[in-house]
Amino acid sequence: MKNIVILATGGTIAGASSDPTDMVGYYAGIVPIAEIVENIEPLKNIANITTEQIAQIDSADMDHKIWFYLAERINALLNQSDVDGVVVTHGTDTMEETAYFLNLVVKSQKPVVLVGAMRPSTAISPDGPMNLYNAVILAVSSDAWGKGVLVSLNDTINSSREVTKTNTALQDTFKAPELGYLGYIVDAHPHFYRMPTRKHTYLSEFAIEGITEFPQVEIIYGHVNDNGILAKAAADAGVKGLVYAGLGNGNMSQTMQDTFQKIQDQGVVVVRSTRAGNGVVTRNGSFAEDPFVAADNLSPQKARILLMLALTKTNNAREIQELFWTY
Ligand code: SIN
Repeated sequence: MKNIVILATGGTIAGASSDPTDMVGYYAGIVPIAEIVENIEPLKNIANITTEQIAQIDSADMDHKIWFYLAERINALLNQSDVDGVVVTHGTDTMEETAYFLNLVVKSQKPVVLVGAMRPSTAISPDGPMNLYNAVILAVSSDAWGKGVLVSLNDTINSSREVTKTNTALQDTFKAPELGYLGYIVDAHPHFYRMPTRKHTYLSEFAIEGITEFPQVEIIYGHVNDNGILAKAAADAGVKGLVYAGLGNGNMSQTMQDTFQKIQDQGVVVVRSTRAGNGVVTRNGSFAEDPFVAADNLSPQKARILLMLALTKTNNAREIQELFWTY
C-alpha cells in the first residue's frame, strides 16, 4: 500500500455539536484528525496513513503564517521517497484560496488533495468520512499525478485554480462554474476527463523559501456610485497591490479609473478582476491605454494570491500581466 500523510487544519470536517441535527450552529475544528481517521475503517485498506494536526481552526481564521508552514511541510514530505501523496483537511469557506496558493508553491508532481465537509462530524449523516476516503483514493492514484493541487468533495475532482464554493450550505457546493469538474470518484475509482492547462506546482516559478510575509494586497468590491474611499484608504495604509472586483469585464467608473490611476502612479499594482463570477477579464488595449493588470478568469480572491506571489518577484505591471496569462 502507498504512504499518504494527512495534514489537518480543522474546519467542518472536524466540526462537532451536541445536536446531531445541527448543520449550522456547530463548532468547526474540534475533533482531532487521528480520531477522525481511526473511525473510518475502510481507510485502513487503501493506504498506510499518518496524520499531523497542523492547526485546528475555522478556515475563516486561516492565515499566511499557516500557509507558509503548510507549503513547507508538504514540500518536505513530498521530497521523501516514502511519501506518495498528501491530503489536507480544511474548512470549506477558504479552501479554494489555500488550494490555489499551494498549487503555485508546491514543488512536486505527487498528488496533493484538499478535502473538507459541509456537515459536522456529529451530524446524523456527515459527509466528511466519505469525502476523506475519496481524497485518499485520489492521493494514491497515479492518475492524480502532475495535475496540480486538487479539491475533492461530494465525489467530484476539481482543479484548485478553477474551483469555488458556490452554495452556503449544500454538500454539492464545490464547482468550477462553466468550466466543469476534472472528474468524478465512483466506487473508489477516480475518473478524469480534463487536465488543468495553466502552469502549476512542479512547473511553477514561485517559491516561498526565504519569504516570511507577503506584500499586502487587498480586494476592493465594485458597485454603483463607488467614490474610491476604500481604495484610497488602502493605498494610504501602504498596500502594495489592489484587486478590483470590477463590473462586467473588470470595468469601472471614470471616478474609479482616476482613483486607481493615481494609486498605481504611487507604485501600487492594480489588478482588474470581476464580480461577475465567470468569464475572462481582458485588457483594454496597450499599457498606455490601460495601465492596470487584467486578471484573466481568476476570481478576486485568487487574483489576490497570484498578485501577492507576483509582487515577491516584480512590481512591473507588464511582467505581472504575463504571470496572470500563465498561471
Ligand atoms: C470552515 O470553513 O472552517 C467552516 C465551514 C466549513 O468547513 O464548511
